Amino acid sequence: MMKRRDFLRGAATSAGFLLACKSAPIAFAQNAGARIEVLLDEPLGTISPNIYGHFTENLSGVIYDGIWVGENSKVPNISGIRKELIDEMRKIKPAMVRYPGGCFADSYDWRDGIGPVEKRPRRTNFWNGDEAPDAPAAHRYDPNRFGTNEFVQFCRLLDAQPYLAANLRSLPAQEFDRWVEYCNSPAGSTTLADQRAAAGFKEPFNVRYWGVGNESWGCGGNFTPQEYAIEYRRFTTWVPEYGTKLQFIGAGPGGGEPEWTRGFFEEMARKGKNQIKSMYGWALHHYAWNLSRGKTQDWDAGKGDAVNFDPVDWYEVLREGDRMESMINSHWQIMGEVDTDHHVKLVVDEWGPWYRPGSALTPTDQLEQLPTLRDAVFSGMTLDTFNRHPEKVAIACCAQLINCLNSLYLAHEDRFCVTPVGHVFAMYAAHQGGQAVRAEFSAPSIHYQREDKPASSWGLRGSASLHDKELVLTAVNPGVTDAIDAQIILRGAQVKSGESMVLTAADIHARNTFTDRQAVVPKPGKLETKSEVVAHLPAASVTRVTLQLG
Ligand code: AHR
Repeated sequence: MMKRRDFLRGAATSAGFLLACKSAPIAFAQNAGARIEVLLDEPLGTISPNIYGHFTENLSGVIYDGIWVGENSKVPNISGIRKELIDEMRKIKPAMVRYPGGCFADSYDWRDGIGPVEKRPRRTNFWNGDEAPDAPAAHRYDPNRFGTNEFVQFCRLLDAQPYLAANLRSLPAQEFDRWVEYCNSPAGSTTLADQRAAAGFKEPFNVRYWGVGNESWGCGGNFTPQEYAIEYRRFTTWVPEYGTKLQFIGAGPGGGEPEWTRGFFEEMARKGKNQIKSMYGWALHHYAWNLSRGKTQDWDAGKGDAVNFDPVDWYEVLREGDRMESMINSHWQIMGEVDTDHHVKLVVDEWGPWYRPGSALTPTDQLEQLPTLRDAVFSGMTLDTFNRHPEKVAIACCAQLINCLNSLYLAHEDRFCVTPVGHVFAMYAAHQGGQAVRAEFSAPSIHYQREDKPASSWGLRGSASLHDKELVLTAVNPGVTDAIDAQIILRGAQVKSGESMVLTAADIHARNTFTDRQAVVPKPGKLETKSEVVAHLPAASVTRVTLQLG
């Protein structure tokens, strides 16, 4: 049975209460229940726009139907790319998009996806074996209609950086060199550059970010960390550059395994510490999938339902997702054992909740699930975690952009909707490029019964970033029953004015669908700024507070 939060709602504001103070701490006994204390003179680092990145794998409905509809489609499109998707994504400032996988990447021959479209081969998709018998042919047999050119075109329309994942399992290292050459060599210089120009892309793509394999401990080759480090070195040594500094990203752990990270970094260093300097990032994947309340570790049996859940499942998925913070800290520490000056940054290029099949709006879409308010809260929590570690996390990509897992968008033929997760990205875009500052969020813990044992969840979390004279605060209230009135205390500035936006719904299962596209949308929230700053954070909500500072 759920216990109500032991929560003290703030008393009425008192005259003479200081809004903010440059030096002395402020007493605020009237509202001891919840507060957000922002320490403006404690910067944490710049929030890279790249942590607001996306992941697009050639998996079921992600590319074909989700992104690519074709130039001759009745669905409005720009050069074959779904127009409504472009329009919506522009609102969230998508800094980076990763492609073509995922596991697909280590089965992909990039040459299949270039050149005249009528000559491109059809290939069995990596994910073919798990496609429904009535799934569209393009999901089972890759028509290669969408390849490197179309992906870069997609990124250009979004003003986003492309992040390509190279095939380390089933192509030789030379093909990696050649893909870089195709993308980045100047027109007229090489045969591949001429091929690119002939396709209408005279200007080089200047792709900077390259993943060197994906999940190389599993679908990307089943390597040991030592074997993978040797492959990684071979793939990344003397890759030709064409004026664009290449940023290589190694395939890191998938469940937080410390031995994968330690084994890789130690093997790299065995060849000399300079080997580490050739790396830009170390990927980290984390899916919150086990809602069994500790009963099993079985990948299929442990999953929960995306839309039919009780409040305990709500807290359990947040608990699983919240492991992100300890994973960031622990892998950072392990990397630091070898990479003592922390040259290599973390790249969390797959994250999100993963539920069992059954909730897809398009039932033939493999791994599609229907995001609810729970996933919006999960996503806000995760983005706040990244914001709090700007010196460690350089890139993050939500898995995945459309029609798969923690989708921001769902689409099928001419139908489209923005999910609650998509709305969270729109709200959080305001953090991009800001100076993260330390902020302490406190509220009483939430207590609940996990099977027959008492369990608890944190009561309030968030992050803060400064943009000249504007402070952006985001806060997650995970409690399913009680609202919070959180007093906001600023150390180092005064508040002139402010506003808030809230994403919530009366029902924790609320979601947007093709026929009910507005069930969960951000709305103006309640923010008191007269004598003290108090934000009203409804139960089960994500809130963004924007404060203009004096
Ligand atoms: O996102 C789906 C899959 O999850 C990816 O292909 C793989 O990298 C991960 O295991």
